[in-house]
Amino acid sequence: MARLIYSAISSLDGYVADQDGNFDWAAPDEEVHAFINDLDRPLGTYLYGRRLYETMVGWEIDPTLVEQSPQMEDFARIWQSADKIVYSRTLEVISTARTRIERAFDPEAVRQMKDLAERDLIVGGPELAAQAFEVDLVDECHLFVAPIVVGGGKRSLPEDVRLKLELLDERRFSSGMVYLYYRTSRM
Ligand SMILES: NC(=O)c1ccc[n+]([C@@H]2O[C@H](COP(=O)([O-])OP(=O)(O)OC[C@H]3O[C@@H](n4cnc5c(N)ncnc54)[C@H](OP(=O)(O)O)[C@@H]3O)[C@@H](O)[C@H]2O)c1
Repeated sequence: MARLIYSAISSLDGYVADQDGNFDWAAPDEEVHAFINDLDRPLGTYLYGRRLYETMVGWEIDPTLVEQSPQMEDFARIWQSADKIVYSRTLEVISTARTRIERAFDPEAVRQMKDLAERDLIVGGPELAAQAFEVDLVDECHLFVAPIVVGGGKRSLPEDVRLKLELLDERRFSSGMVYLYYRTSRM
């Protein structure tokens, strides 16, 4: 059975974007990017909320991104070769390949995807992921903690879910970012 992984880059106080919607402070440097590329390389499918999807489409449609570093070029290739499912009630047009829209989050359908998939799946952003946490579908978390406190904004983890976490791995980067890899289980 494939695993469903929640992945996010968060401030120390637990936000993926600050109160102004900014997350430039979360941008990975080359070292972190290379590490994320290796985490994402084996994945088969990204489950995206529409808002996160809209921040990611550049990896396919913006040619200036891949010119910025070998790590970004590598990530673009990884992203383009994975399947994407975008959850949205409003999105009309998909601008990337290997992508389909789902109009509702159906936990049973995701459970079946996990049962049938040969490669792991990843879920984000937090609003969509909260629904997967609520029904106990998230097996693991890849959390990158940026060295910043932003005081508020979009929470990286749902407020009303309690989980036990088993720390499987951790890593520190020269930028001060820290990677925390957890297995989740219900309390
Ligand atoms: N820290 C970082 O590195 C980083 C990187 C990228 C982005 N970000 C931030 O993260 C944010 C994205 O996370 P988010 O939590 O705001 O949004 P999200 O989970 O990515 O997307 C939310 C949207 O997904 C759709 N959706 C959610 N549940 C659904 C359901 N049950 N059925 C159908 N559609 C559903 C809805 O789209 P519709 O409105 O179309 O119906 C909803 O507005 C971005 O806005 C950005 O600020 C941070």
